[in-house]
Amino acid sequence: MTQKRILVTGGAGFIGSHLCDRLIADGHDVIALDNFFTGDKRNVIHLMDNHHFELVRHDITEPVMLEVDQIYHFACPASPVHYQYNPVKTIKTSVMGTINMLGLAKRVRARVMLASTSEVYGDPKEHPQTESYWGNVNPIGERSCYDEGKRVAETLMMDYHRQNKVDVKIIRIFNTYGPRMAVNDGRVVSNFIIQALQNQDITIYGEGSQTRSFQYIDDLVEASVKMMNTENFIGPVNIGNPVEFTILELAERVIAQTGSASKIVKKPLPKDDPTQRKPDISMASRRLDWEPQVRLEDGLVKTISYFEEVLKRRN
Ligand SMILES: NC(=O)c1ccc[n+]([C@@H]2O[C@H](COP(=O)([O-])OP(=O)(O)OC[C@H]3O[C@@H](n4cnc5c(N)ncnc54)[C@H](O)[C@@H]3O)[C@@H](O)[C@H]2O)c1
Repeated sequence: MTQKRILVTGGAGFIGSHLCDRLIADGHDVIALDNFFTGDKRNVIHLMDNHHFELVRHDITEPVMLEVDQIYHFACPASPVHYQYNPVKTIKTSVMGTINMLGLAKRVRARVMLASTSEVYGDPKEHPQTESYWGNVNPIGERSCYDEGKRVAETLMMDYHRQNKVDVKIIRIFNTYGPRMAVNDGRVVSNFIIQALQNQDITIYGEGSQTRSFQYIDDLVEASVKMMNTENFIGPVNIGNPVEFTILELAERVIAQTGSASKIVKKPLPKDDPTQRKPDISMASRRLDWEPQVRLEDGLVKTISYFEEVLKRRN
């Protein structure tokens, strides 16, 4: 393996920090760039003494000058509570941030990979979603700052590639969980775990029969590194875990694995709650020779023990 200089935007965030760990372990020089909006220094504190690692406080809506070979472009608030906090900033991060990273990649001839999302499919009319599906996205809704921001980011990647020959890659990430998710993330896995650890009621909507799929962080990191280092394949490619669980199953599993006294409370189903979310990963398995390896129960063990530590620190 040749040692590379690698930039990870959003490197102090949930996914970005795990990527930094992996790239350092692989023997690369890593620069993590983050404005600490949802990221936390604690996520990379264990890397601070490593002379192959640098943490830079920077907002990617401003240009940056660096000499690197690869850019993992992951900076963007990812959970609805965070991306709706300042929607204008969210879309600026996707649009101006991606232009800045593509400008950098163009100048220094780096390869750049965008962390896009399953949300580009919007409220999909096709199940499961393949990469050729163009999506069904509301351009003026409250989620649009994120969904449309990522769609424009994908457009920018392709335009810089066609117009300026920038070496680009796009992954569309589906629901991912694991240690270092923010406590206030508000998504189902972290919510259920935190409620269970505090013996609070766990709320599910309807009968909890809607299904979701959950990808463990290590599987995503493996796919990201594989994608980055695969030649002649731009994507976009779906990266997620297609194994489905009902929300009720997830809640029961979390309660069992935490040994919690939490009760499951049912509330009426909101209108826009999709009944199914599941990636089609046949392209990833064919082109990257990749499939998720971590079973939900094993990923939950590690995620639960992470949140136990975080809650201990807080009390
Ligand atoms: N977690 C998922 O399930 C999921 C699913 C689909 C896509 N993604 C994408 O993966 C990427 C990382 O998501 P995550 O789950 O790790 O979220 P996260 O919020 O933990 O990480 C995002 C990081 O980007 C940083 N950031 C935000 N705006 C910035 C800016 N303007 N300048 C510099 N840094 C900035 C944050 O401080 C944070 O450290 C995002 O681009 C997200 O859209 C995540």
